Amino acid sequence: MRTYNSTAALKPALAAFRGQAQTIAFVPTMGNLHEGHLDLVRKARTLCDIVVVSVFVNPLQFGPNEDLDAYPRTLLADKEKLFAEGVQVLFAPGVNDVYPQGMDAQTLVHVPELGDTLCGSRRPGHFDGVTTVVSKLFNMVQPDVALFGEKDFQQLSIVRKMVTDLCMPIEIIGVVTTRDEDGLAKSSRNGYLSLQHRRIAPTLNQTLNECREAIACGFDNFLQLESHARLRLLQAGFETDYFTVRDARTLKAVTDSTEEVAILAAARLGETRLIDNVRLVLNPISDWGMLADGR
Ligand code: PAJ
Repeated sequence: MRTYNSTAALKPALAAFRGQAQTIAFVPTMGNLHEGHLDLVRKARTLCDIVVVSVFVNPLQFGPNEDLDAYPRTLLADKEKLFAEGVQVLFAPGVNDVYPQGMDAQTLVHVPELGDTLCGSRRPGHFDGVTTVVSKLFNMVQPDVALFGEKDFQQLSIVRKMVTDLCMPIEIIGVVTTRDEDGLAKSSRNGYLSLQHRRIAPTLNQTLNECREAIACGFDNFLQLESHARLRLLQAGFETDYFTVRDARTLKAVTDSTEEVAILAAARLGETRLIDNVRLVLNPISDWGMLADGR
């Protein structure tokens, strides 16, 4: 595995692979790699000849009072994990390499509607930071395929929309959420949880699943489901940012033409903000839902 810390060094290495007609799969990350990230890498290996992983904690997507400074940086351990997975290229640029002119007054990529709701309205500027850095990384790596986790379902939807709208010649692959045995979605931020909060944390996924089961059984009073879920989370000790049933394609309210619903939640345990989601394909004939995983 080769590690590159600058675009200038990365470019000729990737050009050499392309010259040999090798295809490139790209997995952008902020590091502190866990099994969720590694599942993206494993999927990437099945799709292309070369796997490029980036590790870059992107300051542009953090708000002023968020955890940029505290965000875990574990490059040595990350390197070992990526090497063990057979990754050929690690790209770990510095802030100055990605933002040579600084972060003020720089071109931003904004995806309206999808980017303005849910986490977009709670974390102003967050998705502009994500889409801007992902665009830059795409231009630096020029991959054939890029992989993103369904755990960040809104992020995945926004990246897909950006790639379509800006005619980027990259195929976006979504990868199912990797979870701990008790259902908690793997996340670099889980490390912030106290022992007590870690015990409570799986309630988020349980509550999403209960909501999904209720819709699958034909219950369609979403407002009632949402308020019931918020109450359940409050009683467990969460402070809920949102818990909402949406159309999985538009991330807007469910309508008669909705084919799949996404139930999305963001909730805090102490200072730690957790997000998770589950989906459900609606069966147009019986009006009963079918769980997205086929159950
Ligand atoms: P990061 O949080 O490091 O996540 C990198 C990728 O791993 C994202 O596509 C994310 O959805 C995926 N991922 C994280 N946890 C996962 C899990 N439990 N199961 C499956 N996939 C999971 O998301 C970012 O970084 C940044 O916003 C980034 C896209 C790199 C732009 O800076």
